[in-house]
Amino acid sequence: MRFVGIALVLLISACASANTAGLSSPEPTGNLAQLMRGILFPNSNILFDVQSVDPADPPPAASGAGATATFSGIYTGWQVVENAAIALRESATLMSIPGRRCENGQPVPLTQANWIQFTQQLREAADVMLVAARAENQDAASDATNDVAEACYVCHEVYRDTEPRCTV
Ligand code: HEC
Repeated sequence: MRFVGIALVLLISACASANTAGLSSPEPTGNLAQLMRGILFPNSNILFDVQSVDPADPPPAASGAGATATFSGIYTGWQVVENAAIALRESATLMSIPGRRCENGQPVPLTQANWIQFTQQLREAADVMLVAARAENQDAASDATNDVAEACYVCHEVYRDTEPRCTV
């Protein structure tokens, strides 16, 4: 009985420490380019669409057999824009977790002052977008896409559109 008790305590504390480790040190799965292509690219395109399509009056949902088409009418309107802004803001944090590499194997330059500043600029642009989306204001949201595009641009100019990428 005592053994069972001890084993149980050990098991519980092992779970607790595994959980703590999981929370305090998230591990990246993809390289930076994959994060950009998987999260930043599709979500910023949803935001850029606001310039030409009123989220409150979207075109009819696509038809087709796949899951994307089938479920395209479930989350609609301004919440799609709001959620894309949230994804973008969260992506700034994902870009900042230690251990991620760029596609060419260079570590993401997390400790560079301008990297920190650029990721913060992305958060702030996402915040401006979030306010506009929650207000359901197409003019303000269209203006906010400029902030988003600018946040992408300033970082790309330094770290993406130079060779080798991800170096200062
Ligand atoms: C803090 C810096 C930073 C910000 C902000 C940033 N990016 Fe990037 N992005 C990079 C770097 C560096 C790469 C190259 C990654 C690599 O090679 O692994 C990249 C690559 C990409 C790629 C992949 C290009 C390819 O090689 O196929 C896309 C797409 C992309 N970014 C989109 C965006 C969008 C859209 C935004 C804004 C919403 C954005 N990024 C914001 C730094 C940034």
